[in-house]
Amino acid sequence: MKENKLSKASISTNLKTKYIGQRIIYYPKLVSTMDTSLLKVRQRVPQGTVIVTSEQTGGRGRLKRVWLSPKGNLTLSIILYPHAKYLPALIMVASLAVVHCIRAITDLNAEIKWPNDVLINDKKVCGILIESGLLGNTVDYSIIGIGLNVNLKLHDIIKIKSSATSLSDELGEEVSLVDTAQCLLSNVESSYLALLAGEPIYEEWRDRLISLGHMVSITSGNIIYEGIAESVANDGSLLLRHPDGSTTKVVAGDVSQRF
Ligand code: BTN
Repeated sequence: MKENKLSKASISTNLKTKYIGQRIIYYPKLVSTMDTSLLKVRQRVPQGTVIVTSEQTGGRGRLKRVWLSPKGNLTLSIILYPHAKYLPALIMVASLAVVHCIRAITDLNAEIKWPNDVLINDKKVCGILIESGLLGNTVDYSIIGIGLNVNLKLHDIIKIKSSATSLSDELGEEVSLVDTAQCLLSNVESSYLALLAGEPIYEEWRDRLISLGHMVSITSGNIIYEGIAESVANDGSLLLRHPDGSTTKVVAGDVSQRF
């Protein structure tokens, strides 16, 4: 296994990207890479700047959840300044990049649970949080936060061990954090460039969703919707068909799936 210690130098050396990760800001420990990214956005750091840390003390998940980020995991945020028309597709860019990276690094098959959780064998291996700032109708910034369970030993974490997994738990051996970080950044860049070039990333994202055709229950704000996840639109929204035949379009939410 190659270098396992994250640093600006280890990630930058031989990183094959044009702009994602061309500026890496590494911290041994942070509260949250999302908060630090926001401070960097205020300084107008270049697009593609990556904030990465070995440990978060206040990692944030979607729907105000806590994201456990002990050492051994990959936790980073990527700063972009996209056009508003690309905003809905960023969840697709990020989740496809993670799936491709996992396949390249481990040969494991990962799947996407709507909208952007990445699972291996039905357990969550990666969470993605995208926070964007708007100025009127234009996007001021988007921060893509990715938390990938690389070398987490789930056996020791009672709270999430039944629903989460890590690359090392799946493989039975540790995985290089540096290789994983580089591979992830390359894949985010290629998925993002594909989006900008008008390539059909929506189709691949849709085809990799495990939620479609299944009975799901979705928490969106204070509302819980139940029904069959019928289809997704190219803006990322999910069409849910209820038992009485009516439908709801859900823009973002948290899905629990019943097979
Ligand atoms: C989720 O599944 O709820 C999303 C989890 C996102 C976690 C990542 S780790 C890097 C970045 N920093 C954070 O505080 N959160 C995101």
